[in-house]
Formats: sequence, structure tokens, C-alpha cells
Amino acid sequence: MNELAVVILAAGKGTRMKSDLVKVLHPVAGSPMLRYPLDLSRNLKPSRLIVVVGFQADRVQEKFKAQDVTFALQKEQLGTGHAVLAAKPALRGFRGRVLILSGDVPLLTEETVSKFLKSHQARKAVLSVMTVELENPKGYGRVFRNADGSLLRITEDKDLKPGEEKVREINTGIYCVDADFLFSALSQVTPQNAQKEYYLTDIVARANSEKKKVFPFLVEDSLEVMGINTRVELARANQGMKKKIAEQHMLDGVTLIDPETTYIDREVKIGRDSVIHPSCHLLGKTSLGKGCVIEPGCKIANTQVGNQVTIKASSVISECKIEDLVEVGPFAHLRPDSLLRGGSKIGNFVEVKKAVIGKGTKANHLSYIGDATLGEKINVGAGTVTCNYDGKKKHPTVIEDGVFIGSNTALSSGQDRP
Ligand code: UD1
Ligand code: CA
Repeated sequence: MNELAVVILAAGKGTRMKSDLVKVLHPVAGSPMLRYPLDLSRNLKPSRLIVVVGFQADRVQEKFKAQDVTFALQKEQLGTGHAVLAAKPALRGFRGRVLILSGDVPLLTEETVSKFLKSHQARKAVLSVMTVELENPKGYGRVFRNADGSLLRITEDKDLKPGEEKVREINTGIYCVDADFLFSALSQVTPQNAQKEYYLTDIVARANSEKKKVFPFLVEDSLEVMGINTRVELARANQGMKKKIAEQHMLDGVTLIDPETTYIDREVKIGRDSVIHPSCHLLGKTSLGKGCVIEPGCKIANTQVGNQVTIKASSVISECKIEDLVEVGPFAHLRPDSLLRGGSKIGNFVEVKKAVIGKGTKANHLSYIGDATLGEKINVGAGTVTCNYDGKKKHPTVIEDGVFIGSNTALSSGQDRP
């Protein structure tokens, strides 16, 4: 009975997002929101991990396919109860507890889920439901308790009777339920409600009528269990995640001068004693070494940065490799596939694209270096341009070690220019 399976519901379109993209692929701190419950589930080491997909199923599967994940297809989205039924074949023969999570609740922590699972065990419940009290419960399913505090029923917002909308305790959409009861109860759920949907929440009333133990598990932090339905909530979740990520980096020894205006994606890594100034965006799979300084207003995406690198204000960098002790900016633009070797310097208004800048080489002012390989200790004078394009083809430029290039130089590499 101790065995655990996880079912993540991710088939809904997310109508209230008003988007052409399925809701669970909208990013939170740079990762599609489904990434969060999926990673959390993996940490629980379940014996089965099932994601129910439907709307844009192909896109979701493409993004998250992995050996340990089984996708269950819910062809039509007829409600959350119907969605869980779609996972039934994938749970054949399974007798333990099923943890049901929503793909649209990204801030949930493993700590809370562990407590929830423990409480389910300790109370010998057949069904446990995670709940929270909200200032404004509008739109959510409301929780009604028995006199002894156990759960009586959950009623969706659209099905509430007059006066019931005042109830502030709501269903977070996170459940732990014994597999046998789950599917016997779901087989009896009907779509007789305002939305004509098969509600998963109806299994609460079923459990009561069968005199089975159903407990609410009230959590304190409403942000943690917030479900994203609209872009307003998406922004709130991004804020919440941003704060969490920033705090973790600070606790790990990174100085953030102004965490409020610093945007760091989930997968970013930063070494100790690095200092990030206000209004910086560190995106994607970016990593920074130790002792780096990132001055205000920089955007750095999917770039590997070594130790003691200084990126001066307002620089834009994407898909590059930067070795130790390099200096970049202010106002530099480093485009994909560029490699800046140790101790090199790229100054203001310099654009680098698909180029290698050798050790100790300097391009301090107003230059374009594209499709080029530069050796060591070269001086690139102000206004130097590698003319890499003849209108049809790109041509590479090679500059050997120690070359001195004076100001205002056009290096034409085109072999067959018109
Ligand atoms: C649901 C709950 C509500 C709770 C709220 C918390 C029901 C009937 N209602 O309402 O009590 O307060 O979550 O956020 O369960 N999904 C599918 N297939 C479907 C429908 C939904 O996979 O046919 C998935 C969605 O992708 C989403 C999750 O289930 O990840 C919740 O669906 P959503 O439509 O957001 O439910 P709510 O109306 O918010
Ligand atoms: Ca929801």
C-alpha cells in the first residue's frame, strides 16, 4: 500500500489564458510551467509517473518525453475527473496511493507535498485534498467540512448555492487517493453540473457516502499552491519564482544588488562572490563562474562565462563562451557561437558574431567582427569591420597572433565579390 504513483493533469487548453499555446507550456522563470510539478514528482521517486495530455499533446510530449514518463492521452477535455480516467490504463495493476497534481501549479514545493503524503498515511485516509484559504476565492472550488473537520464536499464556483460563495477555503487541485477507491468512485461520476464536465472533485462526496475517510490538508502559503488560469496569475507566479531563485543564489554566496529588478531563470548557475547589478536578465542555461561582475542592464542568454569576468553595463550576449578574466562592454553585442578566450577585451559598440577572439586580444571600440578567427594579442582599432558577406555568401576572416589593425579598416574576405 506504500507504493506511490503520480498523475499530473496537463490536458486542458487553458481557455482563460487566451493563447494559441497550451497553458502548461507557458514559461515561468524560463521553463515551461509543467517542468516544475514534473521535477518535483521525480524527486518523490514514484513507481509510475503519468502525465495526462490532450490539447496540443504533441507539443507537450515533444518537450517532456523521457524514459520515466508515461503520457496518457485525453482526447476530449471533458473535465478533471475524465482526465484522471485517461490515466487508468497506465495504472493497471497499481494498488497504492495516487498523488494527483495539476500542471498549472508551478510554485508547489516538495516539502509541502511530503508533509501532505505523510498526513495521508498517518490519518489512514482514503482521500486527502490540499486546501488553502484565500482572500478572494472567486473561481475556485470551495471546501465544505463536516463538524469533525473532515471533508464533506467540494463545490465548483459555478455550482455554488447563494451564500456559499463566502466560503474562503478552496481546493488547490492536489490530491492523494488510494487507487482502488479512485477508479471505483470515478466510474460513478456524472457530468450533471453547470459546466457539464466530469469533476474529479465529486469523488469527495462519494467517499463520504461510502463512509470513507476524507481529510483536507490546509496549507498556509497561498502563493505556493496558486493555480495559473490567467496571465495575471502567470505574472504573479513569475514574480514568486523569481524571488525564490534570487534568494537561493544569495544564500549560496552571490550578491544581488537589487533582487527586485534582477531576472534569473531557473537553470542559471552563478559562482560565489559574483555581483549582479540591477536590471540584469540571466536567461536559459547561462552559467557564471566565481567573482564575476555584471553591471546594470545586461541581458545574457545561454552563455557560459568563466571566473572573474566583467560584463559592463547594457551589454547583450547570447549563446557564447567567455573564458576567465575577460572584459566586455559597456554596450557590447555578442551574438551566437562566439568564443572569447582568456583575458580578451571587447569594448563599447562592438558586435561579435560567430568569432573566436584569442587570448589577450582587444577590440575596444566601434567594430564588427563576424565569421572570424582572431589569434592572440591582436589590437583591433576603432571602426574595424570584417566584411564577411558578399550579398550571397558568408566568408571567414582569419587574423594571426600579434597583428595590429589601425582605425577605420575594412577587412574584405569575400573571394568572388561582384
Ligand atoms: C480545478 C478544480 C477546482 C480547484 C482548481 C484549483 C475541478 C472540477 N475543479 O478547477 O476545484 O479549485 O482546479 O486550481 O477539478 N485538465 C485536464 N483535462 C480536462 C480539464 C482539466 O487535464 O478535461 C487539467 C488542466 O490542464 C489543469 C488542471 O486539470 O492542469 C485543472 O484544470 P482547470 O480547468 O484549470 O480547473 P479549474 O477550473 O481551475
Ligand atoms: Ca486551474
